[in-house]
Amino acid sequence: MVSGDLGNVSLPSEWREARSWIERTGASVENTTLIPGNHDAYVREVVVTGAFEQVFAAYQRADLRLEADTYPFARLRGEVALVCANTCVPTGDLGAWGRVGEAQLRRVEALLAAPEVRARFRVLVIHHPPLMHRPPENRNLRDRVKLTEVLARVGADLVIHGHDHRDEFAELPGPEGRRIPVVGAGSASYAGAADRCSRYNIYEIDGPRVDVLTYAHDGTTGTFREVRRRTV
Ligand SMILES: [Fe+2]
Repeated sequence: MVSGDLGNVSLPSEWREARSWIERTGASVENTTLIPGNHDAYVREVVVTGAFEQVFAAYQRADLRLEADTYPFARLRGEVALVCANTCVPTGDLGAWGRVGEAQLRRVEALLAAPEVRARFRVLVIHHPPLMHRPPENRNLRDRVKLTEVLARVGADLVIHGHDHRDEFAELPGPEGRRIPVVGAGSASYAGAADRCSRYNIYEIDGPRVDVLTYAHDGTTGTFREVRRRTV
């Protein structure tokens, strides 16, 4: 699961390079699911023409999709359902904020409630965090309160997001007093400080229990090693 960003300034050449990078990992298009980040939606024309989606179509092939719109879409993989929404809009003001939007909020709720999804472990995947970890407002999800209201009504078993480029953990209220774990994934390509350098998460799901294993790049050995294991 790749929760964006794939590029920096929404250039198809960046996305093609990112696609080859994913291909070089050996990950199949069937088992790799991908959504854009705000850097993949800098320019209105890019969003309108669906340029990003054309490059990554194979990674967004839906098992379930409501209406003709690209987002949200669901991929069903064994006992897991990935519901993937797009929070990225061309902000036009150099901000990094995002928005789910009313129409997509309705479809997210409907997809999370769909029988094929409800029968599985439901994971909502978005780029922006559904709550503010890092201010200011102009880099966060503008309608995050509405999204949390949807989640409180319909529920989900896990929310995964990107955007903040660091490991983050939180919880949101679900229906009937249940809690929904929220996990922010760090950057897969960052080459700086040890606590943020290139990393990925593995989620081990056993019933309602989720263990998040974080693997980070070790500059000394040139390999990835487990740096944290946390039950959420
Ligand atoms: Fe981002």
